[in-house]
Amino acid sequence: MSIEEITSQVKTCQKCSLWQNALHGVPGEGPANAKVMFIGQNPGAEEEQTGRPFVGRAGKFLTKTLTEFGINRKEVYITNIVKHTSPENRKPCPEEVSLCIPYLIQEITLIKPKIIVLLGASAKETPRIAGIEYFEIVHPSAAMRFTKMREKFRAQIAELTKQIP
Ligand code: URA
Repeated sequence: MSIEEITSQVKTCQKCSLWQNALHGVPGEGPANAKVMFIGQNPGAEEEQTGRPFVGRAGKFLTKTLTEFGINRKEVYITNIVKHTSPENRKPCPEEVSLCIPYLIQEITLIKPKIIVLLGASAKETPRIAGIEYFEIVHPSAAMRFTKMREKFRAQIAELTKQIP
């Protein structure tokens, strides 16, 4: 299985019922040799429209913060634990997560990142694979909204930059 194959399967996936409410699945994005992988919850409205992860308000905030800390978005791989948007942007349910997680496992297996950054609570369900370092950090949408969360998020990104090989 290649990343291209995963991408095309994700776009047309019908494993859970979320596809009924969505235009298409939103695959991960980034270079196949990325050292760092960011994992979020699931796509929102703008991601759904464009078919790209983290391009809405939270995504722009994430990209801007990464740039400020010297991390180029084009050099990291960005994906989600669930690949379809959900009605009213609700949190994906456990069944949706478990049906979608094989895509994420394939992405991790192919990309072989050194570091995985889990954005927010939902991403914490990502399976831990030996040899990869995991960082659990604040979700950019919370960091965008709350000053305390923003400070924490920035400190966590600063710490992350020290760990990137
Ligand atoms: N929030 C997420 O968790 N993922 C996205 O792709 C966009 C917003």
